[in-house]
Amino acid sequence: MKKEHNIFALAMIFCLAIAPVYGQYYSKTVMRATQRAEKMTRLHFFLHDTVSGENPSAVVIARPNITQPSSFGFGILFAINDPLTVGPAPTSTLIGNAQGLYVSSSRDPAVFTTVMYADFAFTSGRFNGSSFSLISRSSSSDAIRELAIVGGRGAFRMAQGFALTQINFANMTTGDVILECNVTLYHY
Ligand SMILES: *[C@@H]1O[C@H](CO)[C@@H](O)[C@H](O)[C@H]1NC(C)=O
Ligand SMILES: *[C@@H]1O[C@H](CO)[C@@H](O)[C@H](O)[C@H]1NC(C)=O
Ligand SMILES: *[C@@H]1O[C@H](CO)[C@@H](O)[C@H](O)[C@H]1NC(C)=O
Ligand SMILES: *[C@@H]1O[C@H](CO)[C@@H](O)[C@H](O)[C@H]1NC(C)=O
Repeated sequence: MKKEHNIFALAMIFCLAIAPVYGQYYSKTVMRATQRAEKMTRLHFFLHDTVSGENPSAVVIARPNITQPSSFGFGILFAINDPLTVGPAPTSTLIGNAQGLYVSSSRDPAVFTTVMYADFAFTSGRFNGSSFSLISRSSSSDAIRELAIVGGRGAFRMAQGFALTQINFANMTTGDVILECNVTLYHY
C-alpha cells in the first residue's frame, strides 16, 4: 500500500514536470527549442485516380442540386483512396495511398480547377507509417501543377513542402487519371 502510494506520488511529480497545465487549459508559453536541423527528402511516385469501373478509387459523395452551365460540375465533391505506386503502370509496386477529398472549385466555364485535401501515407520502405498532408488547388490549364504540403505525420511530422504533378495518362471518356508526382519535403 505504502509503496503504491509512493509510485503514485512520483508519477504525479513527473506529470507536473512535463505538462505544467493545472487549473487552466493551456501551458506557459516558452521559447521553442531552436537549431533543430531541417532535413529534405524528395519523393517520386504515381497516383492512380480511378472513377470508372466496378472498383473505383474516387467516388462522388456530394453534388449541388443545381447545375450551372458548362461549369465542369462546380461543387462536386469526391472521396478518394487512390493507390500510390513506384511506376506509372497500375500493376507497379504499391507504396502507399492518398486518402481524402477533392472538390471541383471553379465557376469559370473555361477552367477545370480542383482543391484537394488529402493525407498521402506510405506503407513500405523507410517511410512506412509516415504521411504528408496536402491542401491545395490545381488547374487543368497548367501542364505542371504545384500543390502545397502543409504538414505530416511520423517521419514527416511538421513537414512543409510542395508537390509538382503532371498527368501521365488520362482517359477522357472515363475520367481516370494517372498523375506523376515529384514531392519535396522539408522536415525534422
Ligand atoms: C435545392 O435545394 C434547395 C434547398 O433545399 C431547394 O429550395 C431547391 O428547390 C432545390 N433545387 C432543386 C433544383 O432541386
Ligand atoms: C509497414 O508497417 C506496418 C506496421 O508497422 C507493418 O505491419 C508492415 O509489415 C510494414 N510493411 C513493410 C512493407 O515494411
Ligand atoms: C519529376 O522528376 C523526374 C526526374 O527528375 C522528371 O523526369 C519529371 O519530368 C518530373 N515530373 C514533374 C511533374 O515534375
Ligand atoms: C478509355 O476508357 C474506355 C472505357 O473503359 C475504353 O473503352 C477506352 O479504350 C479507354 N481509352 C484509353 C486510351 O485507355
